[in-house]
Amino acid sequence: MFFKLTDEQLMIQSMVREFSRKVVAATAAERDKTKEFPAENLKQMGELGLMGMMVPTEFGGEGADTVSYVLALSEIAYSCASTAVVMSVHNSIVCESITKFGSQELKKRFLPRLTEAEIIGAFALTEPHAGSDPSAQITTAVKDGDHYVINGTKRFITTGKNCGLVIVTAKTDEAAGHKGISAFIVEQGTPGLKVGHVEDKMGLRASDTTDLIFEDCRVPAKNMLGKEGQGFKIAMTGLDGGRIGIAAQSVGVAQAALDAAVKYVKGRDQFGQKISKFQGLRWIVADMATELEAAKQLMFSAAAMKDRGEKYTQQASMAKLFASEMVNRITGKALQLHGGYGFTADYPVERFYRDARVFTIYEGTSEIQRIVISNNILKDKRKP
Ligand code: CAA
Repeated sequence: MFFKLTDEQLMIQSMVREFSRKVVAATAAERDKTKEFPAENLKQMGELGLMGMMVPTEFGGEGADTVSYVLALSEIAYSCASTAVVMSVHNSIVCESITKFGSQELKKRFLPRLTEAEIIGAFALTEPHAGSDPSAQITTAVKDGDHYVINGTKRFITTGKNCGLVIVTAKTDEAAGHKGISAFIVEQGTPGLKVGHVEDKMGLRASDTTDLIFEDCRVPAKNMLGKEGQGFKIAMTGLDGGRIGIAAQSVGVAQAALDAAVKYVKGRDQFGQKISKFQGLRWIVADMATELEAAKQLMFSAAAMKDRGEKYTQQASMAKLFASEMVNRITGKALQLHGGYGFTADYPVERFYRDARVFTIYEGTSEIQRIVISNNILKDKRKP
């Protein structure tokens, strides 16, 4: 492999693999049916140091690098993509944004509770009419003494119902476009913050996705992340890291689908032999493994650039674009290789197929990733 993992990274991968395949996998299929939030998994993941992996140790985190983080996240996604998306938003966007942009006081107040998984973090940027174009958001935050009063509705919020805090963006200056957007930390239970509609989704069913409704929600001014008007930049910076996380989720689910397909074709007899003996199917397996390896390298490359402190926006979008499209092809092929059984809930591939479908959509669609990549290459930024 071009990218050589250190002994420490390999140790983290093996520790998380063992935990994930023993503990997380045990209830994944059941939770897909019941939609039960994986609270117990997350609690144990907090104890293992997986819920604040990149947070500095002084704030209760592990101070791990991004490469270790993507290894851990893909191992969790291998067993349960619902648990993985909660881990991803919590680590990549919430903990990272507070670490990078929070005041010392905010870091001390929230990071230790987040890293222990005492509370889970959510990120609220999207609105009913502002998805791919978040600068069109209309939620407002109006200064009132030493508070801001937030009004508006956020949509498709991962962990909206089960989070302990949410980073929310809102317009503090309606005339200033994206430069008039600010970011705030709002604790669950703050008067005026309500959980709205809970989505009924085709996949990631144990992770709740909800509306969050802010009605005259008073938030202390000191809960602002960064400076007034910095919210869009904070969100975009968070999404850069988040997109590496989606690549890691894609790699994990794709590996699970490939392993399931290999097991199936080696066990299934047709026409007097194992179906793994048919060249047509062997080539499908070869293509799946090759694509997965390519996605892994893109994921590692983006993570390593981030760790080296280089600008990694383009690499994160490339990793997210390729890996999320790859996992959709691989889960489709894995299902096909299972024949009729793949279409039933007796085998896990139908869950992988459903879970992966949103990866090309959330944290920026494939089309948005192509805008980011082409803008970076052509250096003549065009509006979508
Ligand atoms: N890092 C830091 N700053 C950035 C940045 C980045 N990656 N990308 C843009 N910016 C800054 C720019 O420098 C610019 O700032 P200045 O004016 O000071 O120079 C500002 O942001 C505006 O940039 P653009 O003009 O490029 O912005 P745009 O309005 O054209 O939009 C976009 C660019 C790429 C399309 C962006 O809007 C985008 O990423 N859209 C998709 C949003 C998205 O991913 N939503 C998902 C939400 S989360 C989710 O899915 C739910 C969940 O919980 C999992």
